[in-house]
Amino acid sequence: MKFGHFDDENREYVITQPDTPLPWINYLGCQAYFGIISNTAGGYSFYRDARLRRLTRYRYNNAPMDSGGRYVYLRDDESREFWSPSWQPTRHELKDYSCRHGMGYTVIGSTYNGIEAHTRYFVPLNENLEIWQLTITNRRATKASISTFASIEFCLWNAQDDATNFQRNLSIGEVEVDDNVIYHKTEYRERRNHFAYFASSLPCAGFDTQRDAFLGRYRGWDKPAAVEAGRLTNSIAHGWSPIGAHQVKLDLEPGETRQIVFVLGYHENPDDRKFDPAGSQTINKTLVKPVIRKYLDPAAADAAFERLREYWESLLGIFQANTPDIHTNRMVNIWNTYQCMATFNMSRSASSFESGIGRGLGFRDSNQDILGCVHMVPARARERLLDLAATQLPTGGAYHQYQPLTKRGNNDIGGGFNDDPLWLILGVSAYLKETGDWSILDEPTPFDSQTGSEAPLYEHLQRSFRYTLERLGPHGLPLIGRADWNDCLNLNCFSSTPGESFQTTTNKDGKVAESVFIAGLFVQAGRELAAIASRRELNREAASYLDAVAKMEQVVNKHGWDGEWFLRAYDDLGVKIGSKECEEGKIFIESNGFCVLAGIGLNDGKAAKALAAIEKHLATKHGIVVQQPAYSRYYLNLGEISSYPPGYKENAGVFCHLNPWVMIAETRLGHGDQAHDYYKRINPSAREGISELHRCEPYVYAQMIAGKDAPSFGEAKNSWLTGTAAWNYYAIVQWILGVRTTLDGLEIAPVIPKNWPGYTATRRFRGVVYKISVARKGDGNHIALTVDGSPIEGNIVPPPADGRKIVSVKGILT
Ligand code: BGC
Ligand code: NOJ
Repeated sequence: MKFGHFDDENREYVITQPDTPLPWINYLGCQAYFGIISNTAGGYSFYRDARLRRLTRYRYNNAPMDSGGRYVYLRDDESREFWSPSWQPTRHELKDYSCRHGMGYTVIGSTYNGIEAHTRYFVPLNENLEIWQLTITNRRATKASISTFASIEFCLWNAQDDATNFQRNLSIGEVEVDDNVIYHKTEYRERRNHFAYFASSLPCAGFDTQRDAFLGRYRGWDKPAAVEAGRLTNSIAHGWSPIGAHQVKLDLEPGETRQIVFVLGYHENPDDRKFDPAGSQTINKTLVKPVIRKYLDPAAADAAFERLREYWESLLGIFQANTPDIHTNRMVNIWNTYQCMATFNMSRSASSFESGIGRGLGFRDSNQDILGCVHMVPARARERLLDLAATQLPTGGAYHQYQPLTKRGNNDIGGGFNDDPLWLILGVSAYLKETGDWSILDEPTPFDSQTGSEAPLYEHLQRSFRYTLERLGPHGLPLIGRADWNDCLNLNCFSSTPGESFQTTTNKDGKVAESVFIAGLFVQAGRELAAIASRRELNREAASYLDAVAKMEQVVNKHGWDGEWFLRAYDDLGVKIGSKECEEGKIFIESNGFCVLAGIGLNDGKAAKALAAIEKHLATKHGIVVQQPAYSRYYLNLGEISSYPPGYKENAGVFCHLNPWVMIAETRLGHGDQAHDYYKRINPSAREGISELHRCEPYVYAQMIAGKDAPSFGEAKNSWLTGTAAWNYYAIVQWILGVRTTLDGLEIAPVIPKNWPGYTATRRFRGVVYKISVARKGDGNHIALTVDGSPIEGNIVPPPADGRKIVSVKGILT
């Protein structure tokens, strides 16, 4: 509790101590303009693509960490003392510091020497700009003369180039200043038609656009010379490092409050209207000025904030639950849902752990993200699925990622991961179950982004499935390719060269190494595809999928079972991985979790055994680890997994993404207590009390928590952008609470803890509001449903025949 607390009513996390163990961040923006913002105003902004259209600069891996941000300074013009109300960068001892991270906005402020100041940062819906509303109140008994400085450092658009290509970049910076607005227009003279702007609602006493002029020589953002002097220098940047800094002077009576609005934004001009006058090199500002003017008005800013609130209210309102567990409620109703949207928007690009230049949208990642957000943004999920499918290769294979700006697949972070294609089936299936929109399957969709190659989306699914069938290994299990879900199980890599990427190096075109995990995924995807095919009345095709699934199950039973649990893989020599015969890495979570999730071994005791083995060998108080025993040294035949010290990441860390697979598997066996117990171990809110150990934000999931072999057992890393968000949401909502979408409608199949008297929930689904209440009358998981007072057969609630828009569903569990 030391660093803050949840304010559930306002859907905020309130940080009350600025020096959190790590920057605790939030996201601004939910459509095209985005920013990350830390609890001390660190972070940066970008338009659509964190790598290619970066507006402001940030210094990753810096000391002190979290450098570069949306920094405000206040200066008492009498005492000449200056400070930052957001603590960073000056790090003064503040009174009543607080940072409220909310849904799409952050408010940071404090009081210092009787001057109270708060800044509310947010991105209005449908605009490519962010608003900083700075409210200052004089709490002194006497008049105060305060200079306010707002500052940002521009990035020269391509964040990677910006961080490396100094010989060019230090000579290209250009700005214009006009009417209290600073325009950043580097490269506008040539091929770019876009620029950034930073505007102030109140007249400025001065500005700076050259970093050196503002900071002074050999100084950092903690002590800008111009702020110290109390006067900006009206510098115009030519080259070097363009910044935007405004100075506004305020005289405040005792008790007086004033607000200044700063607007930072991005604008594109039509190519033929770039300059004004035409033929000059001056930005044409006619189109952007009305937008700037609009949002500099505090009333317009307030109205935009209200609309943002309503937007989140309506998204979160689609599913709300009230259970006996506050941590479940908080994550399901607020934070996990919110994280699902951030993950969907960002994929794995920009966070405190993803630099925004490393990765575009992952094929497998984005397909899985659909599970957590399709109920909120079905139209965008549809578009994402079609974009993903459009990068699929004619073989059915997939690029591992595509860049959001170009929407073209690339091999920058590797290719040939043999699980990738199958996730498309799961993503599309989740979309169909949510929306019932079968038209998506007929959508003409190209292969490899090639115009002319279009085929219905359905054919992409067929090819995804066939991709596995055409790539089976010696035991009849799927060949693993470069790797499967576990990027670091590189069975065909054999890298002994320092620095060589495990993800992109191809040392062997493997025809031997096989994955039991992909077999489980294939079984699940095959069942889903068969269900889709039979709804399309392709009965023979559906039967052939089920036949292939049954064969794969037999192969798993024969060659993928180790006696007490499912094997993980066979390596390039055909040697078992994840077997009791192994010295290290005897048992893995992925194959066991996913095979049971897919229904393998439910009837012959294998599933129960596998789950018992997970509990015995892999479960810890901080979550379930990837494998045991951890690899204690580097194995050439295993690759990156054994490059991590024991307990970290894929080498026996708690990979939070994988835990919900086991939770779902537990529900398939009816084990509600165990499922929810696992859920709680990694639930960030339930871990808030151990923030000193956990270190990452207590309101969102992290990708991993150090496993028991690590000295820092229980410490989280890589928060925010992880498949963990979608999978935990899906596990708790659809499998534990059991409010599940199916092709035939909404199913209610709770597998909740025995000591829960029940729960209530509201779900908007296909245009109808379902008011659900579940009451426990016995210990089991059998449910009897009444819908608007009438008992129904089975547990799929039929859509109301008479057009009712609100339906009451009551379930009795016995
Ligand atoms: C990480 C994986 C990640 C992969 C690709 C590896 O170093 O351990 O979690 O998926 O890189 O970026
Ligand atoms: C992170 C990647 O984004 C994801 O695709 C992968 O499955 C996990 N790491 C495990 O390696």
